[in-house]
Parts: sequence; C-alpha cells; structure tokens
Amino acid sequence: MTDSILVLGAGGHGKVVADCAMRCGLVVAGFVDDSARPGVHVLGIPVIGPMAELPRLRAAAGGVMVAIGDGAKRVDLIDLSREIGFRTPTIIDPSATVSRFATVDDGTVVLAQAAVNAGAQLGLGVIVNTGATVDHDCIVGDGAHLSPGAHLAGSVRIGRFSWIGIGSSVKQGTAIGSNAVIGAGAAVVADVGDGVTVVGVPARPRKRRT
Ligand SMILES: CC(C)(COP(=O)(O)OP(=O)(O)OC[C@H]1O[C@@H](n2cnc3c(N)ncnc32)[C@H](O)[C@@H]1OP(=O)(O)O)[C@@H](O)C(=O)NCCC(=O)NCCS
Repeated sequence: MTDSILVLGAGGHGKVVADCAMRCGLVVAGFVDDSARPGVHVLGIPVIGPMAELPRLRAAAGGVMVAIGDGAKRVDLIDLSREIGFRTPTIIDPSATVSRFATVDDGTVVLAQAAVNAGAQLGLGVIVNTGATVDHDCIVGDGAHLSPGAHLAGSVRIGRFSWIGIGSSVKQGTAIGSNAVIGAGAAVVADVGDGVTVVGVPARPRKRRT
C-alpha cells in the first residue's frame, strides 16, 4: 500500500488534489471527511470515514494528503497524520515546473501549470494552486495558500497560514506576515502585517463597514 494515499477533505480542493495525485501515479484509496456521508463517492472514490477515524484508517493507505482550505488546520492534520504513521508526501503536478534549486516541504501541493523557481523555499502544507508562480528566492511559510494565478516576484516572503488571493501579484522583495489575506486581483507593492487583509491596486488594508 506504499503508493496509496487518503485525501483528507472531499470538497472542491480535495477533488483537485486527488486528481493531481492520480496524475502523479498515486492510488487514492479514499477520502476522509467529516461532512460527507461514508459510502458517498467523489470522483468515483469512496468517502471512507470522518477525521476521527484516521488512526483506524492507517491500514487503508500508506500516505495522506491534506486538502482543506484552512492553513492552520491543514498543518495540524499533517502533524497528526505523521504521528499516526502516515507519510505526507509532496505532490507536484506533471505539468508544473519546480526548479531543482527550490525546496518543497512535506504535504505541499504544486498544481497544474504552476511554476516554482530557483532558490524558492516552500514550507509544510503549502498550496501553490493552478497557474500560480513563485519566483526566485521566495520564502513561503507553512500552511500558506497561493490561489490560482497568484504571482510572487523574486525574494517575496509569505508568513504562515497567509492566503494570497486569486490573480493577485506581489512586488519583488515584499514581506507579507502570517495569517494575512491578499484579496483577489490585488497588486501588493508594500509590506503587509500579520493578520491584515489588503485589497485593490495598489493593495490597501480593507476598510471595514461600520
Ligand atoms: C478580500 C476578501 C477575503 C474579503 O472578503 P470579505 O471579508 O467577505 O469581504 P466582503 O465580500 O464583505 O467585501 C467587503 C468590501 O471589500 C470589497 N472587496 C472584497 N474583496 C475585494 C477585492 N478582492 N478587491 C477589491 N475590493 C474587494 C467589497 O467590494 C466590499 O466593499 P464595499 O464595502 O465598498 O461594498 C475576498 O473578497 C477575496 O478577495 N477573497 C479571495 C478569493 C480567492 O482568491 N479565491 C480563490 C480560492 S482558491
């Protein structure tokens, strides 16, 4: 069972991760999900139980890919899976390009048409979503998510659990803190602090409705 995995999360991202894993030659033995009923099939693959049953499900597969959107929960589930004894592989879509001079930690997915250039460092459980690019020497923290078509110029730093929105761009050398959110389509030209949400071109902290 060394080449079979479970995908944790049977939602939209879970489908994309399972599809990518199969394109990489892995066998997806099942989805694990708290909200889908056991016995339901997603992409023809059975949902075989809730997260609480993960220790029992160790017999079903050797590895786990965590495919849930919340970055902190994703990293927690990767840690838990390792404690149980699962492998937590990196999955790189065959159509993606990852430099041999980049480093990619466990549980990270690099999806179709994405590119990761020389000197980049991707942490644990990072999502480099469809068509996103990470240029040279970027450092992307654990549990961060680069949404489809997001682009990081060279030497950008992204903190843990930050979410870089679809189609956004980040200027070279910019530092984005942890738990930050970059809105869809934003152009980030200045540093963004921990927990701050920015939107727009150029990106500014989002005004909250009073
Ligand atoms: C930034 C974001 C997180 C804000 O979400 P939210 O807190 O639910 O915000 P709301 O939808 O309530 O909008 C609040 C205000 O911000 C504006 N706003 C929201 N997102 C914006 C964006 N990306 N760019 C510019 N303005 C935006 C809204 O128009 C609204 O303005 P108003 O008060 O003048 O009407 C969200 O809109 C976003 O861009 N998410 C990224 C989505 C994404 O990348 N998906 C990919 C999934 S893989």
